[in-house]
Amino acid sequence: MPSTMPIQRPSHKKKERAQTDLFRAQMLAWYDAHARVLPWRVKPGFTANPYHVWLSEVMLQQTTVQAVIPYFGKFVDKWLTVHDLATAPSEEVMTAWAGLGYYARARNLHKCAQVVSRENKGKFPNSLEELKKLPGIGDYTAAAIAAIAFDLPATVIDGNVDRVISRYFAVTDPLPGSKPEIRALAAGLAEGRTDRPGDFAQSMMDLGATICIPKTPRCDLCPVRDGCAGRAQGIAAELPAKAPKKAQPQRWGLIYWITNQDGDAVLLERRPETGMLGGMVGLPTTQWLDRPVIKGRKKPDITDYVADRYPGLERMQDNPGTIRHTFTHFDLDLVGVACRAEKNFSLDVGQFWHPLVDIADIGFPTLFKKFVNLCILK
Ligand code: ADE
Repeated sequence: MPSTMPIQRPSHKKKERAQTDLFRAQMLAWYDAHARVLPWRVKPGFTANPYHVWLSEVMLQQTTVQAVIPYFGKFVDKWLTVHDLATAPSEEVMTAWAGLGYYARARNLHKCAQVVSRENKGKFPNSLEELKKLPGIGDYTAAAIAAIAFDLPATVIDGNVDRVISRYFAVTDPLPGSKPEIRALAAGLAEGRTDRPGDFAQSMMDLGATICIPKTPRCDLCPVRDGCAGRAQGIAAELPAKAPKKAQPQRWGLIYWITNQDGDAVLLERRPETGMLGGMVGLPTTQWLDRPVIKGRKKPDITDYVADRYPGLERMQDNPGTIRHTFTHFDLDLVGVACRAEKNFSLDVGQFWHPLVDIADIGFPTLFKKFVNLCILK
């Protein structure tokens, strides 16, 4: 006789919770065995030093782990605590950062160290809201610090996590439009979960960096392959879908290699605090315009421009060549001009002569390093 009792199915919520539990357990077990050894990390199960976590997370904003490792080492050797960093001269901080890019990060890093040192006795706040009030700490960095340094159940999403989530849940809408959906799915795995939030966040980053990699995911090694909808549908490698990139705007300018009368020093300048590469030392450039430098000409006419802008300069015969650099929002072409200062040449604000013999020791942003290499190797 058929039973009149309804079949006891787990509620939708319970099923979801069981799936989430399994996903987290698989990820944490994998992390225990395969976590990358990185200098700002502690062993799985331990809680890291907030100063190290903050410093590494600011450096890792839009920069690869491999690029960050030597800079992180240099910073913590030089400035053992947040108080040490706070009291360092800003020129030293900017020089130590040179080559890492996105220089507003270094200015904010220094400001943040000063606030934490002065107003918080060197302690980083342990809530998302308070972290977000600090200079240079946005949603991502606040969540990463909260999870990794304070074991709070924050949702941490970077490019690696976007990829893991969009594949696991087979999110086929393209980025960036799919961000809210990815965020909601990631939050479902993290929020309210107090079992090792920092390790879980880092397990997602590591899976994305080593197994769930772009183009050729290594699904056979993945701890969550059995539940992965992207894999089941055979579309993991194509995810996350991305909206086509718009062409970058182009900007143009000139960059100067100006030597002194004796030919043993080159003109450098510290750039103004605000604007691109703010506070960094580099070679003088014109403004970077959204059209070739001289109106009405396809290519800048260097001879006219040098005469115009720097009256005390004698142009050298050799043209060092053009450098090309890509910033987040535009591409830049700078045409190099080599000149020698005449007797009446006077320095602008922030400019100084630097001996040519130790030009390689200056911490230049990559853009300037490219030009110095052109001029020195020529
Ligand atoms: N990318 C950003 N933060 C990271 C971290 N803590 N570990 C590895 N990769 C990261």
